[in-house]
Amino acid sequence: MARRIAVIFGTRPEAIKLFPVIAALKAAPDLEPVVLVTGQHREMLDQVLDIAGLVPDHDLALMQPGQSLDEISARLLTGIGSVLDAEKPDMVIVQGDTATAMCGALAAYYRKIPVAHVEAGLRSGNIYHPWPEEVNRKIIGTFADLHFAPTETAANALRREAVDEAKIRVTGNTVIDALHWVTDRLAADPGRAGMVAPVEARFAGKRIIGVTTHRRENFGSGMDDIAHAIRELATRDDVAIIFPVHLNPQVRAAMLPILGGLDNVALLEPLDYLNFTRLLQIAELMLTDSGGVQEEAPALGKPVLVMRDTTERPEGVAAGTAKLVGTDRALIVAEATRLLDDATAYAAMAQAHNPFGDGHSSARICTAISDWFLQAETSQPH
Ligand code: UD1
Ligand code: UDP
Repeated sequence: MARRIAVIFGTRPEAIKLFPVIAALKAAPDLEPVVLVTGQHREMLDQVLDIAGLVPDHDLALMQPGQSLDEISARLLTGIGSVLDAEKPDMVIVQGDTATAMCGALAAYYRKIPVAHVEAGLRSGNIYHPWPEEVNRKIIGTFADLHFAPTETAANALRREAVDEAKIRVTGNTVIDALHWVTDRLAADPGRAGMVAPVEARFAGKRIIGVTTHRRENFGSGMDDIAHAIRELATRDDVAIIFPVHLNPQVRAAMLPILGGLDNVALLEPLDYLNFTRLLQIAELMLTDSGGVQEEAPALGKPVLVMRDTTERPEGVAAGTAKLVGTDRALIVAEATRLLDDATAYAAMAQAHNPFGDGHSSARICTAISDWFLQAETSQPH
């Protein structure tokens, strides 16, 4: 009988990085996914579910506007726990570092259900950057049964924390599986990028800078500086900014008053993954504090200025495609200006690198899970 694997997720990036894993689980004869979405995000999660054609087995619909970390975590823990009690899966998969991932793993642990952690071992070394994600990821790492590290750097971080080598697999990051899938679909049907097409036409002939921002640790003066830096860059005639704004009300409150109504700035609703990938393709460079974008931009050879002081994804920086610029207004403007005006500096960063995977991570993850069950069976006392 196939082993039932509960795949738990709730936010946009988890959905993007787990839909290829769910497809691989469906294809594996000995494994069967049970898809549990928490609805920590609503619209931004649904955008991914729609594109991937995924219908969850359970949807807890937990999102509340402006939710605090305690509120969402409390709802997650009890909500996920009830579904696990009803479904009794053989294993739980969580991805990354969100509240959903941490509470999903914890609820499984409370029931002694084995936990597999996708994208394990990323560490910035600073518990407040990213906040609270650094600690969420570490908590999961303390008891996961399988740690799917995307890179050797991540695996080494786990080894330094004395995680049993037998539980670590270096798989690549499933975001690259998702990116391959979506770029193939875009190539087959370019008309699908209809959310971006009107701004592409409006800004024809301009050099596009793509922007995203949402990190909690940047709320307050960080977001304010980011907004003013973008406003300053937008005064250049040759540049246009395309900025799909995260639905977090704190992000909107910081960005809309400073950037609304400017000729060279298009503030958009969140783009679905096909359209966001189109933005990555047409952008000359990206300004972001996102984790996922730090992985996708290098894969597409797009220079990315990371508006954070630290990163748990040093591979993009090592590859030369990503650079940390923090949230200092003058530094963001200076670094972006350098890339726009110095062709040599730009060429040095605009090299496609795939430090995060080869697009086959999900298959590796499923094989490792199958092997884990085989091993568990053979090591059972008779
Ligand atoms: C969450 C994750 C973060 C991840 C990010 C990806 C935690 C603690 N944070 O941050 O790790 O990088 O998602 O985007 O798990 N909202 C909507 N509709 C949506 C999504 C969000 O209206 O589809 C608004 C709601 O008012 C919600 C707020 O945004 O309360 C914040 O959402 P939340 O998931 O708590 O935090 P994020 O900042 O999105
Ligand atoms: N993304 C998207 N639409 C957007 C902005 C981002 O589909 O308008 C994708 C992006 O390609 C990446 C992921 O969302 O895969 C990143 O999500 P986010 O920045 O919200 O979270 P993080 O990666 O920082 O946890």
